Amino acid sequence: MSQERLKIEVAKAALKRVEDGMLLGVGTGSTVNAFIRELASSGIRLEGAVSSSEATTGLLREAGIRVVDLNHAGDLALYIDGADEVDPHRRLIKGGGGALTREKIIAGASRRFVCIVDESKCVKVLGEFPLPIEVIPMARAFVSRQMVKLGGRPELREDFMTDNGNLIIDVRQLDLIDPLKTETRINQIPGVVTCGLFAHRRADEVLIAGESGIRSLSSE
Ligand code: 5RP
Repeated sequence: MSQERLKIEVAKAALKRVEDGMLLGVGTGSTVNAFIRELASSGIRLEGAVSSSEATTGLLREAGIRVVDLNHAGDLALYIDGADEVDPHRRLIKGGGGALTREKIIAGASRRFVCIVDESKCVKVLGEFPLPIEVIPMARAFVSRQMVKLGGRPELREDFMTDNGNLIIDVRQLDLIDPLKTETRINQIPGVVTCGLFAHRRADEVLIAGESGIRSLSSE
């Protein structure tokens, strides 16, 4: 099965978690795009959606779904988003699409976070995928030096600005054997808005599409 097909299958599986009248948090990326397409044709009538990026906002509006500001929403029942890497403890690397900060805010504001991936995203230990870090522009060089001190190889994402007007540094070769500790450590560096480790607020459930169907990693 193609990766595109797997994304559609996992998007369909995620729809089973969505109920009429929900105010839903919606992530960013190609898997989420497949989810929005499935949602649009599902007949489910949401109260609205809180969006994690300008790109997602555009797609939600095209699908006729009302986009609600998080400040007017309170806590959300459910957040659906993809990931770049997933470990067996449902900890994630996110930010390949550069939307990590808004994604982390919505994940934090949601009672349940369901992550949707194809099986190519599953790893034993996080860190094969370069860790994205959103930084305030004036802190770019300083934060990069701190990443080198942590043993990483930072690279500025070329010609890219986040929806918040900041930069992304992608860091290779970091030791992520203890992602909780590393997330805390990186997020404390002045100038870091947030890093793409989702270990403190990990997924509650990961739906994984593979050749043999959909598998669920869950706390329940
Ligand atoms: C965007 C993200 C995405 O969830 C992540 O990059 C996965 O994207 P895709 O579904 O296209 O593989 O974190 O910031």
